[in-house]
Amino acid sequence: MNKRAPILGIETSCDETAAAVLDADGRILAEAVYSQLQEHAPFGGVVPEVAARAHLARLPGLVRGVMAEAGLGFAELGAVAATAGPGLIGGLIVGATYAKGIAMAQGLPFVAVNHLEAHALTAMLTEPGTRFPYLLLLVSGGHCQCVAVRGLGDYRRLGSTLDDAVGEAFDKSAKLLGLPWPGGPALERLAARGDPRAVPLPRPLLGRPGCDFSFSGLKTAVSRAVQKGFAPADIAAGFQAAVADVLADRVRHALRIMPEATALVVAGGVAANGAVRQALAGEAMRAGLPLLAPPIRLCTDNAVMVAWAGLLRLRAGLRDGFDHAPRPRWPLEELAPSA
Ligand code: KG4
Ligand code: ZN
Repeated sequence: MNKRAPILGIETSCDETAAAVLDADGRILAEAVYSQLQEHAPFGGVVPEVAARAHLARLPGLVRGVMAEAGLGFAELGAVAATAGPGLIGGLIVGATYAKGIAMAQGLPFVAVNHLEAHALTAMLTEPGTRFPYLLLLVSGGHCQCVAVRGLGDYRRLGSTLDDAVGEAFDKSAKLLGLPWPGGPALERLAARGDPRAVPLPRPLLGRPGCDFSFSGLKTAVSRAVQKGFAPADIAAGFQAAVADVLADRVRHALRIMPEATALVVAGGVAANGAVRQALAGEAMRAGLPLLAPPIRLCTDNAVMVAWAGLLRLRAGLRDGFDHAPRPRWPLEELAPSA
């Protein structure tokens, strides 16, 4: 294996089909994402079978595209990395099998990347000065957790959602407000015209010990506010403010559990939300820590983060066999710390 050769990364765990090429120093040579919005919009959410078929249809073209943009043939790669979990199993099988096929044909190492680890390590690529240990707040459509990132492969989940992920809560509340899917961005736009104090909404688990999250009660309260005829913009603004308050509170508790944290890192699609970012910036400042947020396109699902996680694992001497089986559930704690 050529340690100075570029790495190809593949992401297919949910509804983004993505491919990227990084050089051995982590410079992005090419990246592409296909968001399957059109395919899932008629259903108002991601349909696993539809997602798997769309990955199968789109991935080969995306990979050819990034390889061409990077000016490389498969024989010039040093390794191939693919998300192997957690996520929707059909998509994971498509991406991991495709990656293994290339690696096997070219005699390259294959790296099975944990999607959560990829999100967790992105800041190390994009935010200079990021160093272990740091607190990660991962807020997406599928995940909502506070994670102590102590080293490569060394993670401890400090708290996670007891019911819905926060992006899911945004999407469901947006649906109740009659907004199109995916609801997060639409809800944020509507909230800009509303008064966050006009509708009294709960802040689940606020002030409680630990840093678990709960959003189903908030969603129910949104549904009731809609029935009572409150203005949609006010409900949206109130919902967003409640979420921001809860996330800030949970992060405050997490930082108490993890006083050694050198930074607060945020990742996941909900990190795009202005009110959420502002609340987290306030919390980080209060703790005297920097808030590090990768650019939005690398906060949401992408393959740059997969290639980057693959590169870090290879540098640590880690790789996976072609018999590695994708895992729909794959908690971060089950990764082995690298020495
Ligand atoms: O990380 P992501 O692209 O995909 C995964 O779930 O892995 O996150 C998508 C989620 C969706 O629930 C979407 O509604 C939410 O992130 N989201 C937002 C915003 N942009 C995306 N939520 C609130 N405000 C936004 N501006
Ligand atoms: Zn994700």
